[in-house]
Amino acid sequence: MSAPAPELTPAPLLNVQGLCKSYGNRNGALLDGLELQLAAGEYVAIMGESGAGKSTLLNLIAGLDRPDSGSVLFNGRDLARLDDDERTRLRRAHMGFVFQAFHVLPYLTVLQNVTLPLDLLHVPAAQREPRALRCLERCGILELARRYPRELSGGELQRIAIARALVHEPRLVLADEPTGNLDARAAAQILQLLREQLHSTGAGAILITHSTAAASSADRILRLASGRLAARPQVSAASHP
Ligand SMILES: Nc1ncnc2c1ncn2[C@@H]1O[C@H](COP(=O)(O)OP(=O)(O)O)[C@@H](O)[C@H]1O
Ligand SMILES: [Mg+2]
Repeated sequence: MSAPAPELTPAPLLNVQGLCKSYGNRNGALLDGLELQLAAGEYVAIMGESGAGKSTLLNLIAGLDRPDSGSVLFNGRDLARLDDDERTRLRRAHMGFVFQAFHVLPYLTVLQNVTLPLDLLHVPAAQREPRALRCLERCGILELARRYPRELSGGELQRIAIARALVHEPRLVLADEPTGNLDARAAAQILQLLREQLHSTGAGAILITHSTAAASSADRILRLASGRLAARPQVSAASHP
């Protein structure tokens, strides 16, 4: 009998290799040979001091900024080998973003905000509203569909942002301190929603956070320091909020 074929390991969703980034206004490299592998569906938290380069790293992963050296492979594709249009299309189709300051557009209704990613992807018009409404329902805010953001609380705005980040079923969600502007109760609810939605959609995620409680919602916690990521011991389940 012949030997079994070697097992094929699927390419990671995200493979960041030797990433370096410097800004002229500071001494030394901000990111200095950073490595990160993320499997499909994996949810990782990244902690680190203010100014450590966490947002810079997310921008590089999203292809919004270019590294000095090193590479970002998304689903095996090197972002540096795509042209600007291809990078934009890949980002719109396969990534979703959540920010600390919500970035919900004030002159659009909740439903229009959540439909926006589908508009940008030219999803057939008749499918956009039904998909956005289903996503609002999954995020527990269907009753807010026709409201405007100015009437809503921070926790509600962040739910809208999560719905908008997920409506097009991205493979990767990038969340930059999404609970930074929320009280502890709203923060815990947002993290629970995010975790549930990642689980049910199979999307992977990178959560940037200062909060140990928030980080403990992830499968794995890393720390960014001196331009690199290192494993951080998993916080025990007992310290969940
Ligand atoms: N476009 C830029 N030009 C110059 N310096 C920048 C730029 N973006 C970030 N920096 C600097 O890089 C450092 C890290 O920023 P950032 O990635 O936002 O850190 P973090 O998100 O971890 O707080 C900061 O000192 C910041 O001033
Ligand atoms: Mg930041």
